[in-house]
Amino acid sequence: MSDSPQGGNLLHEERRFPPSPEFQSQAIAKPELYQAATKNRLGFWADQARGLLHWHTPFTQTLDWSNPPFARWFADGALNVSYNCLDRHVEAGLGDRVALHFEGEPGDSRAITYAELTTEVKKAANMLIAHGVKAGDRIILYMPLVPEAVIAMLAVARLGAIHSVVFGGFSAESLRARIDDADATVVITADGGNRKGSVFALKPAVDQALADGKTNVRSVIVVKRGGNDVEWNAGLDFWWHDEIAKHSDEHTAEGFEAENPLFILYTSGTTGKPKGILHTSGGYLTQAAFTHKNIFDLHPETDVYWCTADVGWITGHSYVVYGPLANGATQVIYEGTPDTPHPGRWWEIIEKYRVSLFYTAPTAIRTFMKLGREIPQKFDLSSLRVLGSVGEPINPEAWMWYRDVIGGGKTPVVDTWWQTETGAIMISALPGITAAKPGSAQVPMPGITLDVVSEDGVPVGPDGSGLLVITEPWPSMLRGIWGDPERYKETYWSKFGDRYFAGDGAHLDADGDVWLLGRVDDVMNVSGHRLSTMEIESAIVAHPMAAEAAVVGAADETTGQAVVAFVILKSRFVGTLSDEEVSQQIRAWVGEQIGAIAKPRTVFVVGELPKTRSGKIMRRLLRDIAEGREIGDTTTLTDTTVVRTINTAVND
Ligand code: PRX
Repeated sequence: MSDSPQGGNLLHEERRFPPSPEFQSQAIAKPELYQAATKNRLGFWADQARGLLHWHTPFTQTLDWSNPPFARWFADGALNVSYNCLDRHVEAGLGDRVALHFEGEPGDSRAITYAELTTEVKKAANMLIAHGVKAGDRIILYMPLVPEAVIAMLAVARLGAIHSVVFGGFSAESLRARIDDADATVVITADGGNRKGSVFALKPAVDQALADGKTNVRSVIVVKRGGNDVEWNAGLDFWWHDEIAKHSDEHTAEGFEAENPLFILYTSGTTGKPKGILHTSGGYLTQAAFTHKNIFDLHPETDVYWCTADVGWITGHSYVVYGPLANGATQVIYEGTPDTPHPGRWWEIIEKYRVSLFYTAPTAIRTFMKLGREIPQKFDLSSLRVLGSVGEPINPEAWMWYRDVIGGGKTPVVDTWWQTETGAIMISALPGITAAKPGSAQVPMPGITLDVVSEDGVPVGPDGSGLLVITEPWPSMLRGIWGDPERYKETYWSKFGDRYFAGDGAHLDADGDVWLLGRVDDVMNVSGHRLSTMEIESAIVAHPMAAEAAVVGAADETTGQAVVAFVILKSRFVGTLSDEEVSQQIRAWVGEQIGAIAKPRTVFVVGELPKTRSGKIMRRLLRDIAEGREIGDTTTLTDTTVVRTINTAVND
């Protein structure tokens, strides 16, 4: 097998990898799961909710779908999410089990048991109460991946309040937009975190976001991590360690109704404004715990699990915090980047903690493929039992490399498809049951029903391609877009009425396995992170030099897609700077407006943009150009010379 990152014929893979008899015999998930879910879908989910979670008040009703598309699951039951992730494990005698093995980028580490984590969360909950936090309040977290981020999420959840984690790579502007949209009262942040061998500051962005004093934020609680100097606003800023020290570790978790909101997580849509995806408690936790346990074949007494996602993304919510902790897992969290201080850092961590279940993104796998197998082969990876992939399609070549080089040629690989909106995994193989097919996410999870349909909503059937829809409500589905029920209906439910439109293209093969084909809307997927073309375009045109802009996601060998921007300058700026200087300014500007993750990989300064006669930018054509393809039919262009101009810019 070659180490080339892309390759393999996506739709005509013949290889199949059935589970080994040894794996199968010890696997948690048995084929009966599928039968039970098919026989009585709602009864199946009710059993999962009862079996996996502790209910302060048992529920009697499973699903209320009387007001679609607003679902209510287990609605007359009450639970406490934090209690489910912590106290009950301690009460069951598991207090000494390690919950988190924290590995800092500089090499510091901390093991935190379930008893210790419970104590810390209780203290943090008392601290938040002292800062006026009550059920329903919105708390913004803007933090590095340190234990305090997990503690803060669980403390907010414990009080029935709502957290909204903003990824540390977003700018002050983006942070402010989220603070305003959620109308947050408290921000929890850190002085800074460690990344790529240096400290990146977080607190200054919070200061900048709050500088005009026009938000309802009344406390900023700051974890000391980076050790960098920070400015201090007396009366507003509080050190986490000073505050925590004032509070008792006694706190009794109260039950909240199952539909009590748990978190808002902003994600990019097809407009310039990010959507606040709202998730609630009982259904979300049920599906997060169910999928985590069965897909990773979690044996909590012996396994060590590691998901490399940041808590700023949905994967970090469902598969770093809520799923694993609800299941009493022992897991690793790592603050830094994979290549610091050396390119084998991840594999070293797997060796150090004897990680057995590992969950990461295809971009990372393709990056390691490029670096060569010699690096992981220096480490003992024999503890690995299950490998997971998420965030973007994994090409068969990368899938095979993952299994062979990281998994020693024996470890099942599960490709898991889901979204911020779905809350938990929807499509995946089950490692003890499914014969794995490299490159395909394969089958819906038990209890999930989906289809692939044409533009008119007609099922395409085996060997057909179309749009992915989810045909029945599921427990961890989003409950809406914060403050915008109309946008919720419009975005996901208007296209096919009673079926959820995911925004992904998909192919069903002759066996009925699902192959994901990428987004069909103006959402890009860069390294498994979602970015909106419109949002980046709006940011670029706000630059004083830019007259017009078009942004496309161009195929990229490593990151799946890359942001490519075409920019027309206002006439008075034309010729004043070199293209390279313009490009640098635009990239820096997008970094300030949205965040470093949204910076275009390439900026082309062009004279015009190709448009249809009705004035729509021809993005497909721009994508062709950005990817270096021959451009097709341009007869609908208003001015065919535009294409030539652009092509010249690209080829220069
Ligand atoms: O296009 C799909 C892609 O990521 C999108 C969801 O992005 P986000 O909400 O940021 O969540 C990412 C982590 C769950 C989807 O619409 N996607 C996610 N997983 C896969 C995938 N595409 C192909 N295969 C996957 N396994």
